[in-house]
Amino acid sequence: MLIKTRKSYDISSAEITPERLYLSRRQFIKGAAALSATALIAAACSPVADNAPRGRAATTGTEGQTPGAILATTDELGDPLTDYQAIVSYNNYYEFSIEKEGVAPLAQNFVTSPWQVEVYGLVRNPGVYDIDDLRTRFDQEERVYRLRCVEAWSMVIPWVGFPLHKLLDQVEPLAEATHVRFETLYDPQQMPGQRRRSFNWPYVEGLRLDEARHDLTLLATGIYGKPLLPQNGAPVRLVVPWKYGFKSIKSIVKIELVNYQPVSLWMAAAPNEYGFYANVNPSVPHPRWSQASERRIGEWGRRDTLLFNGYEAQVAALYAGQDLRRDF
Ligand code: MTE
Repeated sequence: MLIKTRKSYDISSAEITPERLYLSRRQFIKGAAALSATALIAAACSPVADNAPRGRAATTGTEGQTPGAILATTDELGDPLTDYQAIVSYNNYYEFSIEKEGVAPLAQNFVTSPWQVEVYGLVRNPGVYDIDDLRTRFDQEERVYRLRCVEAWSMVIPWVGFPLHKLLDQVEPLAEATHVRFETLYDPQQMPGQRRRSFNWPYVEGLRLDEARHDLTLLATGIYGKPLLPQNGAPVRLVVPWKYGFKSIKSIVKIELVNYQPVSLWMAAAPNEYGFYANVNPSVPHPRWSQASERRIGEWGRRDTLLFNGYEAQVAALYAGQDLRRDF
């Protein structure tokens, strides 16, 4: 059975699906044009391009898909979960499309099994983990997190997965390891966006080791009690809820422990716009737009953006003494 234990930080019971309602692990597995980089960023990361579903979820290409078993109906702040259809049809996944509603149709035949994740670098026990290994060796938990995109839209998503620190404990980072570098699959045959040379593929992201070890940092394998769909980063992705969504790298094949600050795809593409930390911060605007408020998908109007996306109590200590304007 999937197991969830209460953590020291205060997450309400509504955020944690009772054990009896978890899918069994077995069940879960079974269920299982050349634009310049700047032009792309302008087109895809601008609020002007944000045509997300408002009152009702978009259903393009995903009709008939239903969420799995889940009890949680809100996050720990009492905000309702985002509609499943919206989560699986409004996506950022540039390897497939820069059009949000275009991702799901293009990704539907993406091969996610077999799949292996190599964990290596400055570790005592490097290893290659099969996706089924990741699902069976590590108890899968439900975690309801807010996802805040730098484009100023947000969702509340019930993820299934396990904390990254459990995997890091197995590989045992060496004392000199300071950061973790993640890489998405590079496969231009399957991922049409990678045939455009507008970005320096593959998609890369990074975390400081203490951020990676934080209990909120999740390796997600599912959403709404079901395995991830390709458009959401199947078969395994990162979720770092206090950071802008672009840090939550999809379809991971490599996790490397390193002794330097990795350069992410976004940092390389537009260094003045995208920093390494990317912590959600309403008082630090993106150079081209404010981050003070956001639009929750499925809601009308806007709501104020919370520092660290509402996870300040859990993560602020990670940045004690840091200037968050400089380290954006
Ligand atoms: N990971 C990869 N490999 N490629 C991407 O284009 N987009 C990022 C992030 N992870 C992206 C990615 C961005 S900008 C966001 S907001 C989230 O994925 C969106 O996740 P979702 O589509 O599941 O909502």
